[in-house]
Amino acid sequence: MSDKIKIYVCTKGKKCPKKGSDDVCTALETAVSQLGCGDTVSVKGSKCMDLCKKGPVVVTMPDKISYGRVEASDAKEIVANLVAGGKPIERLRIKKKD
Ligand code: FES
Repeated sequence: MSDKIKIYVCTKGKKCPKKGSDDVCTALETAVSQLGCGDTVSVKGSKCMDLCKKGPVVVTMPDKISYGRVEASDAKEIVANLVAGGKPIERLRIKKKD
């Protein structure tokens, strides 16, 4: 389905994996499973998204929200927020001037 929500986690860049992006990716997959939203949300590992200083980096599509310094403990909140169509989580959001 083209309108499926996608969550991209930088797992193939040089910096994010050293900061735990694989754990974040796994936690997001677990959250999708626990929340039973696998039909509408998918989690994918991604190459570097040029936001390395803010890693681990997560980008949600189609809304193109970038989150930085994401921890595994943030995963459930990110997925639940996406499913609910909530506003971006400002605490994690990467702002342009950062
Ligand atoms: S290494 Fe993850 S955004 Fe560049």
